[in-house]
Amino acid sequence: MALFSWSEDLSVKIKSIDEQHMKLINMINDFYENISNRSSKENISILIDEMKKYTFEHFSFEEKYMIQFGYADYEAHKKEHDLFVTRVDEIEKMFNDGKFFVSLEVTVFIKDWLRTHIQGEDMKYSEFFIKNGIK
Ligand SMILES: [Fe+2]
Ligand SMILES: [Fe+2]
Repeated sequence: MALFSWSEDLSVKIKSIDEQHMKLINMINDFYENISNRSSKENISILIDEMKKYTFEHFSFEEKYMIQFGYADYEAHKKEHDLFVTRVDEIEKMFNDGKFFVSLEVTVFIKDWLRTHIQGEDMKYSEFFIKNGIK
């Protein structure tokens, strides 16, 4: 069973962004499955890297429009993104140093963070983004 399933309550009513969130959820599930199945260190390392890259792409997408349209809550939102990036960097570093076995706990942290962030911060820009024509 997947760790994290998409549901309507996660929709920000913007197709492009919902699709990006779905992709991130799929990546988290994939990561979780690889950990559960005790996949190789190489595989897990690749998945962490892919998640990092895609998260960066997604955050940049949101931030670009926030700057472009003068979103009032930009600073606070960016701070949340940056904190998450820092946390994932730490996890990756610990993993690469062999100090840390990537456990279920890490996946749960990533999943919970994403859910809370979408339902909290991302949901707040929904109306503003729609009003500015983002689809
Ligand atoms: Fe966000
Ligand atoms: Fe987002």
